[in-house]
Amino acid sequence: MDLFEYQARDIFERHGVPVLGGIVATTPAEARAAAETLLGADDATGVVVVKAQVKVGGRGKAGGVKLARSAEEAEQRAAEILGMDIKGHTVHRVMIAAGASIATEYYFSLLLDRAERRYLAMASVEGGMEIEQLAVERPDALAKVAVDPRVGIDAAKADEIVAAAGFDAEVAPKVAAVLTKLWDVYREEDATLVEVNPLVLTEDGRVVALDGKVTLDGNADFRHEDHASLEDAAAADPLEARAKEKDLNYVKLDGEVGVIGNGAGLVMSTLDVVAYAGQQHGGVKPANFLDIGGGASAEVMAAGLDIILSDPQVKSVFVNVFGGITACDAVANGIVAALGILGDEATKPLVVRLDGNNVLEGRRIIRDAAHPLVTLAETMDGGAAEAARLAATA
Ligand SMILES: Nc1ncnc2c1ncn2[C@@H]1O[C@H](COP(=O)(O)OP(=O)(O)O)[C@@H](O)[C@H]1O
Ligand SMILES: [Mg+2]
Repeated sequence: MDLFEYQARDIFERHGVPVLGGIVATTPAEARAAAETLLGADDATGVVVVKAQVKVGGRGKAGGVKLARSAEEAEQRAAEILGMDIKGHTVHRVMIAAGASIATEYYFSLLLDRAERRYLAMASVEGGMEIEQLAVERPDALAKVAVDPRVGIDAAKADEIVAAAGFDAEVAPKVAAVLTKLWDVYREEDATLVEVNPLVLTEDGRVVALDGKVTLDGNADFRHEDHASLEDAAAADPLEARAKEKDLNYVKLDGEVGVIGNGAGLVMSTLDVVAYAGQQHGGVKPANFLDIGGGASAEVMAAGLDIILSDPQVKSVFVNVFGGITACDAVANGIVAALGILGDEATKPLVVRLDGNNVLEGRRIIRDAAHPLVTLAETMDGGAAEAARLAATA
């Protein structure tokens, strides 16, 4: 999960990374109040910065980062920035940040280097908005230092990174101290990316993180109860949100054929055969990924069908289940019971393909139930073709 800048800022602060005051606002009036607070602080510089909160880089260049010298001006800038479109992301919030007197802008990032099975730290004394260009045109100006996950960025590693990047002797120890704090963020929050651009040296000699980009590893969510509250509920797909509430492994896609299967591998290949079959039917595509797992009980089947059938794009559904520990007869009973639970809400044709343990009994149950919306398919390819045809002619 990628975080907004204001969330990264708060996490930085909790781990002792130096940051400036920052207050989130969703309306110009809130922005004005936030600016009043920040401009009245003891260490105020007389300037605040109004910053668009969108999960995309290059906000500054797109006009989403603006200076203001008074609360009134902050209100005006917020009114301009709220609602703005930055690379396809609509701005719903701004952060009012205390303004820094910047002497120099640096760059730092720490990320997961999967290929090398370790972390990679990158640092440059030439940070700021042109960092991508710098990386391409003058790669030597961007130091890259491997970080052993078992050790992390301790004092020695921090010194190695600042030396490689060429920080001058006066500022090097201050930057190194901040890097060890950023390592604490990375490790303790289970991040896969921590980027600070710019990390700045202020006129009064402090090293401060002015922008932060943090990606958290969703696989570690079980260790971090507080991370759930960082999720951007407004941006989540409503069907995916409902599926998540029911603990279903569901991903919304763009097509017309709803897919239910058991086991991630089987569902993935079902998506492929549906997309392939769909080419014969005007480019019909799968509408979702849904893995109902090993159990395939009537309740899970009903919950899955309910989600899929409430997707207005869905025209037909392909249920592709391989009976294993939960045998085909149990799955078939689950499907029949699920259709019973849904009653009139089941409105779209279903193609069911069962194979594996107790397949003949499973098919008999489906046949005997003789539900008007259900067709049995003998093979996976045949089922996909029939579901695609039904979607195209619906
Ligand atoms: N709090 C601040 N005080 C002063 N200048 C800032 C502040 N925040 C950002 N800036 C300036 O704006 C530029 C862009 O802001 P940044 O937060 O890095 O957004 P982005 O990376 O999306 O363009 C920074 O490089 C810095 O020069
Ligand atoms: Mg930046």
